[in-house]
Amino acid sequence: MKTYRLEQPGSIDGFVIREEAMPEPGPGQVLVRIRATAFNFRDTYVYKGWIPGAKADVVPLTDAAGEIAEIGRDVRRFKVGDRVMNYYFANWIGGPFNFSPEQYTVHQDGWLTEYKVVDAEALLPMPENLSFEEGASLVCAGTTAWSALRGVGAGDTVLTLGSGGVSLFAIQFAKAMGARVIATTSNAEKGARLTELGADQVLDYKTNPEWGEQAKALTGGRGVDRVIEVGGAATMPQSIKAVASAGQVSLVGILGGIEGAVDYMAMFASQARYQAIPTGSRSDLEEALRVVRQHDIHPVIDSTFDFDDAKAAMTHFENGRPFGKVVIRH
Ligand SMILES: NC(=O)c1ccc[n+]([C@@H]2O[C@H](COP(=O)([O-])OP(=O)(O)OC[C@H]3O[C@@H](n4cnc5c(N)ncnc54)[C@H](OP(=O)(O)O)[C@@H]3O)[C@@H](O)[C@H]2O)c1
Repeated sequence: MKTYRLEQPGSIDGFVIREEAMPEPGPGQVLVRIRATAFNFRDTYVYKGWIPGAKADVVPLTDAAGEIAEIGRDVRRFKVGDRVMNYYFANWIGGPFNFSPEQYTVHQDGWLTEYKVVDAEALLPMPENLSFEEGASLVCAGTTAWSALRGVGAGDTVLTLGSGGVSLFAIQFAKAMGARVIATTSNAEKGARLTELGADQVLDYKTNPEWGEQAKALTGGRGVDRVIEVGGAATMPQSIKAVASAGQVSLVGILGGIEGAVDYMAMFASQARYQAIPTGSRSDLEEALRVVRQHDIHPVIDSTFDFDDAKAAMTHFENGRPFGKVVIRH
């Protein structure tokens, strides 16, 4: 079977394709024929070698969907032929985040390979309404958006930042839950697509540096109930301005970089909650998938590449300004 490995961290050229022996499932394990994988912002950190303590010679990508090809002894959760997807961590079934999760591409190999053996508990059945490409797209970004929205209800206002993977899922889930969405982007064409996806108002964060104030004004001065904060310290000052008293800023990402300070008094004065989001557990993704089924939500896919073109897919993901997930068909 063919598998990608990061032989030399630093650039995309560090990835090689190797021919490796087919793995065999042990007791409680299954062999998955992977059919699709999807990229996240974090995957660029992996190949650059920026993840401390990451496994050497690692197989990239955390998000996958496929079919059960073989089952090991004592597996009752799945049968051969079942369509499955993974969840983001290999060992966080539910409950509070416990700080010792097994993470693909850090502690163990990821999914950019033709076949992979995992514990049957590391997989979920994939909703019938999704293709493999759509299933893979949901794993990290979909779970994170769902976790970041937890508690949002009909009539609430949600503010999303930019048109990355997490933000697009946040728009889709928030609309399914009956919330109003204010979205930001730096690009007018993407703005039109955010509106098509369901955003009620779109603000350009490049031409309107006070987009947080503007979002608050759009709520009649009350503020938004939830901010899906993917920008980090660079965008926090505006997120703090946008959030309503007793609202929540869900701390998700660092798209604006890791440098910068946050004004403690501004946070205090906002009287809002600031909640860090660690992606989510298997049970968080299970909840999200119920909504995906019920509302027939389909992830936005920007482009699909063949397995042998994975490096071109990574380049496109990083430099091609995609709108939606960049997916690899295996
Ligand atoms: N905590 C967690 O569990 C978790 C899970 C998943 C992701 N994350 C993090 O969340 C962030 C988003 O991930 P992703 O996969 O959705 O990223 P992505 O798909 O790579 O997002 C790219 C988009 O982000 C927008 N963007 C870039 N810089 C921005 C800024 N300064 N302000 C507002 N928008 C900006 C741009 O939108 P426009 O082109 O529309 O301007 C860009 O197209 C990343 O930092 C990622 O590491 C965290």
